[in-house]
Amino acid sequence: MSLNVVVIGANRGIGLEFCKQYVSSGNHVTAVCRQASSELNAINCDVIENIDVTDQASVNTIAEQLNIKHIDILIHNSGILHSDSYPNVSLDEMKLHFDVNTLGPLRTIQALESRLKAGSKVGIVSSRVGSIDDNTSSNNYAYRVSKTAVNMLGKCLSIDLAPKKIALALLHPGYVRTDMTHGNGLIEADEAAVGLITQMQKLDMSSTGMFVHTSGERLTW
Ligand SMILES: NC(=O)c1ccc[n+]([C@@H]2O[C@H](COP(=O)([O-])OP(=O)(O)OC[C@H]3O[C@@H](n4cnc5c(N)ncnc54)[C@H](OP(=O)(O)O)[C@@H]3O)[C@@H](O)[C@H]2O)c1
Repeated sequence: MSLNVVVIGANRGIGLEFCKQYVSSGNHVTAVCRQASSELNAINCDVIENIDVTDQASVNTIAEQLNIKHIDILIHNSGILHSDSYPNVSLDEMKLHFDVNTLGPLRTIQALESRLKAGSKVGIVSSRVGSIDDNTSSNNYAYRVSKTAVNMLGKCLSIDLAPKKIALALLHPGYVRTDMTHGNGLIEADEAAVGLITQMQKLDMSSTGMFVHTSGERLTW
């Protein structure tokens, strides 16, 4: 069955791989980004450009640009990581990370909620480094705090979307070789996307609100 998939933050890295793989398995994909890349333009999907997840006005235009009536799978993948360590923690960077990594998913999900229906699924790409239990190394204050906050946001949304039978997962892709990690990591973006797509397939109302690794391991908060 062909699904209508929307990926936010789709021009490179893990988001691009989500698009490639959902297209290759026969789904209708809408790729949302600030600026399309040549790799994204080479995929057989709809592309919506000029969407910055920190800009409410641009996010509000996504729904009207969709060529589909409803969304089966919405993936919010956009995120930033600007490394820091204590005591060199910038309040401006903290605010920027919160705006992109935490408020970004809130903006896109709110703007597209009317296109979700019973059985639709939402995935927010979070990070294990947002886990308080898992934090043994400190550092990356801005990133960590924004991802911890998005975990709470996603958990709240999973509860509030449940009456509509819309399931939501918080997704950890693993340590992935992308621009964000300066090419460091344990796996490639395609492997991360394969695992996360599998987790989205498994997601249902009994598991909504889960925080899950690309491997399927359930992560602690
Ligand atoms: N790589 C890892 O090891 C790892 C681990 C855990 C979690 N994650 C998460 O996985 C997600 C994807 O990361 P990645 O590794 O693929 O990183 P990436 O290659 O740096 O890609 C980041 C994506 O986010 C988009 N983005 C950033 N700021 C945006 C904004 N204001 N508005 C719209 N889009 C914006 C970028 O678009 P532009 O090209 O326009 O900047 C790009 O498409 C992120 O949420 C990240 O936190 C990654």
